[in-house]
Amino acid sequence: MAAAEQIKSLIKSFGDGDEPRFFATAMQIAASEARKGHTTFAQELKNLIEKAKKERSVNFLDRNKTIPILKTKRELNELIEVFHPKINLQDMILDKNVRASLNRIVQEQRKIDILRQYDLTPRRKLLLTGPPGCGKTMTAQALAGELGLTVFIIRLDGLISKYMGESISKLRLIFDAMEDYRGVYLFDEFDSIGAHRNQGQEVGEIKRVLNSFLINIEKDQSNSVIIAATNLPESLDKALFRRFDDIIQYPLPSLADIKNILKKNLSGFSLSTKSLSPKIAKEAIGLSHSDIVNSCEDAIKDMIINGTDKVSITALISSLQKRKQ
Ligand SMILES: Nc1ncnc2c1ncn2[C@@H]1O[C@H](COP(=O)(O)OP(=O)(O)OP(=O)(O)O)[C@@H](O)[C@H]1O
Ligand SMILES: [Mg+2]
Repeated sequence: MAAAEQIKSLIKSFGDGDEPRFFATAMQIAASEARKGHTTFAQELKNLIEKAKKERSVNFLDRNKTIPILKTKRELNELIEVFHPKINLQDMILDKNVRASLNRIVQEQRKIDILRQYDLTPRRKLLLTGPPGCGKTMTAQALAGELGLTVFIIRLDGLISKYMGESISKLRLIFDAMEDYRGVYLFDEFDSIGAHRNQGQEVGEIKRVLNSFLINIEKDQSNSVIIAATNLPESLDKALFRRFDDIIQYPLPSLADIKNILKKNLSGFSLSTKSLSPKIAKEAIGLSHSDIVNSCEDAIKDMIINGTDKVSITALISSLQKRKQ
């Protein structure tokens, strides 16, 4: 290939986000320079390529770029949603044990290189359990935000129903992607494959996917964080539990957590009462984080719709009570 063609191909593959072709073309340029006798330049190019490849697989993806994975492996498009989260753990109201576990994971992930040098594996396979709306999905986003990684959310139900007979090879593609692109991979609604007693037509396929998941997660040596989330932990196959480095249980918010959620979500607004009395927080006991956030939003919307300048605490309490029913 002429030098001009190589440069055009290099720029085109960069524009397309086609990383393999970008590196292949760069290697071709190095090879043709070597043939011309420019051995020092050729070696410099090779070193630069090796270094860039290594950093691409271990370090963070540029958050603003399209993910090359989805360009080169189009089959994954239908199975994975990609997010570039902007939140971090400080944006979450968390139980102190949950926060401690998550902080530990962040610390280990940040020291991944040095831990690997000592032959130690950082914690990175997590099972999150707990009632709906307590922050399991949000945690995947916040962890990724904290670590500057991309989140890949895998649609397991889609995997089974769309690809009956092919689910295992699709799952393999996802685990391969974890090697190629470091990120946070969330298997949400994990009970759709993890439950030991699934019923119906798809049962055989689900069992095969579960077995394949067990094998893949055990073998996985990537630098990605793998998260499975479920609100039905009791239904999970027991063989799953020992595959995870950490099992983190999300409780409903405590009274202190409730006060913090209310404070955070109503901050910047004037209230119809002098302050948020403990009585108001008590109204929210038994509700999830999500319910409380939504009740705050309802009350703020009421203020806007009614054209008043204060958030009505009566409206807030009534929304909390409705969500309890
Ligand atoms: N711990 C939390 N701190 C702050 N906000 C939270 C928290 N948990 C949930 N929320 C709010 O509730 C919304 C829904 O939470 P999320 O989707 O993470 O719940 P989940 O535990 O994954 O629920 P499900 O089991 O139904 O999937 C979040 O987008 C956020 O607004
Ligand atoms: Mg969720």
